[in-house]
Amino acid sequence: MATAPALIDRHGRTISYLRVSVTDRCDLRCRYCMAEDMRFLPRDALLEIDELAAIAERFIARGVTKIRLTGGEPLVRRGMTDLAHRLGRQIGNGLDELTLTTNGMRLAEVADDLSAAGVRRINVSLDSLDPDRFRHITRHGDLARVLGGIAAAAAAGIAIKINMVALKDLNQDEIPAMLAWCVEQGHDLSLIETMPLGSIDEDRADRFVPLTAVFDDLSRRFDLVRDARSTGGPARYWRVGASPTRLGLISPLTANFCDGCNRVRLTTEGRLYACLGHDDQVDLKVALRTGGTAGLDAAIDEALAIKPARHDFRIAAGAAPAVGRHMSVTGG
Ligand code: 5AD
Ligand code: SF4
Repeated sequence: MATAPALIDRHGRTISYLRVSVTDRCDLRCRYCMAEDMRFLPRDALLEIDELAAIAERFIARGVTKIRLTGGEPLVRRGMTDLAHRLGRQIGNGLDELTLTTNGMRLAEVADDLSAAGVRRINVSLDSLDPDRFRHITRHGDLARVLGGIAAAAAAGIAIKINMVALKDLNQDEIPAMLAWCVEQGHDLSLIETMPLGSIDEDRADRFVPLTAVFDDLSRRFDLVRDARSTGGPARYWRVGASPTRLGLISPLTANFCDGCNRVRLTTEGRLYACLGHDDQVDLKVALRTGGTAGLDAAIDEALAIKPARHDFRIAAGAAPAVGRHMSVTGG
């Protein structure tokens, strides 16, 4: 049995959280995320589900306690629920939590299955509660289907966090109503600043909303109490009055929390990105296929050695994206 040294990067941060993008494909084309004619990775470049599972299991052996399955849209990949069941078996054996980020379009069909696999919390992207706006922002989304998916997941005992990207002139005016809806439904809400990842059909600077301004507005309307709990990510959290709802602000542009970063990201091609905002990566696919577990460990160590101290995102009019990869490749 190979030894399994802990995952500590060169800045002394312990890595305990792995995000796995199981596909870069998606059945939606959200305007802030992708271009209308988005090109996806060739299918033969992808890791098999079995390989994704083997890599994730090695991360668990080396101290990862939380795994998020993401994409693209993870539920468009065949074998996704098998992967969830396989990794779910590690819960209690090193893994504390298995979660998922989804757009909700196919959630109703798999909610019970995910729950049976051990998934207790999911993030659902939902940028508007107005059907026409929702379709406009996502280009193909069907709000009723997504709400049906959320209801099915909640009925299966899965806690819901809504992810809403704040967009000027598209949904900014709806943020208080979205928070009120989340309180009423018992969901959490994370507001996200649009990030310069991959090219899209418009200039992100035109849609950028600094969450500092949003927070000032929300704190006049709601009783927001700071919740000190940190997830090692770029989010800060508040409780909404006495409700169980937590409001999260994910503001990589107006606040930087990279000092406490605890995560790395595996793409569906088997590349390990140590930071969402940098291009440095290590190819775990080749390492696994040619070197087995020892090769994989060496490649993971290499990634820890190059994990940057922080991202250097900026949003400037006309500027090229900070990194060429879309969020859908690296995994949100
Ligand atoms: N900037 C900010 N958020 C994004 N998402 C996708 N692309 C971007 C981007 N460029 C969001 C999705 C999803 C979450 C994981 O990331 O809406 O909810
Ligand atoms: Fe798909 Fe999510 Fe990107 Fe929207 S934000 S296009 S749902 S990957």
